[in-house]
Amino acid sequence: MIEIRGVTKRYGALTALDNLSLTIGPGEVFGFIGPNGAGKSTTMKILAGLLQPDSGTATVCGHSVATEAPAIRRVLGYMPDFLGVYDDLTVDEYLQFFASAFRIERGRRRAVVSSVLELTDLTDKRHAMVDSLSRGMQQRLGVARVLIHEPKVLLLDEPASGLDPRARIELRELLLELKRMGKCIMVSSHILTELAEMSTSIGIIEKGRLLFAGSIADAFARAGAGERIAVALEPGSADGAAAAERLRADARVAGVTLEPPGPDGAPGGLIVELTPGVHGHHFLIESLMAGGARIASFTPRPIKLEDAFLRLTKGQLN
Ligand SMILES: Nc1ncnc2c1ncn2[C@@H]1O[C@H](COP(=O)(O)OP(=O)(O)OP(=O)(O)O)[C@@H](O)[C@H]1O
Ligand SMILES: [Mg+2]
Repeated sequence: MIEIRGVTKRYGALTALDNLSLTIGPGEVFGFIGPNGAGKSTTMKILAGLLQPDSGTATVCGHSVATEAPAIRRVLGYMPDFLGVYDDLTVDEYLQFFASAFRIERGRRRAVVSSVLELTDLTDKRHAMVDSLSRGMQQRLGVARVLIHEPKVLLLDEPASGLDPRARIELRELLLELKRMGKCIMVSSHILTELAEMSTSIGIIEKGRLLFAGSIADAFARAGAGERIAVALEPGSADGAAAAERLRADARVAGVTLEPPGPDGAPGGLIVELTPGVHGHHFLIESLMAGGARIASFTPRPIKLEDAFLRLTKGQLN
């Protein structure tokens, strides 16, 4: 659905995108992550046909962004990072305006606008002035606007920025709904946990270079991060050293840290890091018990996308 090949974009002396290549398939929700100034918005503007690359090519649904702008506009919905200001327009008028801009026939406009209002939960606000909406509602209106012409591909540039927790959850639900509808979505965000929940794949960009593209599981594996499990021991248990020895010899275990006993005599414990890509805990419990450890609690701590992101953007690649 989206194909970027060797795209370079310069602003004067600054190389904003450096030979970027990326493919996004149907039904994919591609989370685009990168520090400020990495080139995310620039990439989206190029795909939307608002910027021309200095070299390289990009297509959306097989249409060249450089030479087939009208076709791109039909298949693509682009939500920029700023909505812009529209004085003296109600929500309904605003959406009607875009419906006519997209040449939706007059007779169908009302129904189309009603359906996007419904989907974005803005029906109650249809007669409110756009400028009077809260930030979260404005973001949802931005999404409503890009859905008007039923595009197959959506580019959403930081749709969750500035939203309170509740509005973020609502936005996430909306994006999951769009995913269920089979849209191909490229979404940028700095809120990594959120991207992890809704994306089927992610791309990490830094200084205009793509550091990684693939599934979230692959990102973790590439970052060399495995799941961690905190094991607390019962009073009277063996001290964990023997269990740690056994675990260190197991290829499924990347490392074991012993936690010393507490000052109040509470027994220590172990932090076990699994080898990236290893899942399932049964072997671990068996091995601990065989080492004489009596388990008081066993707490898997899933690795976070933040950890993988930090490792990848520090250049700590495997
Ligand atoms: N119109 C412009 N003129 C000059 N430089 C620009 C222009 N637009 C972007 N840049 C520069 O290009 C680089 C990439 O910017 P871009 O907006 O694509 O980053 P981003 O990943 O979207 O960042 P953010 O997370 O802050 O939104 C930055 O260094 C930025 O300063
Ligand atoms: Mg940006």
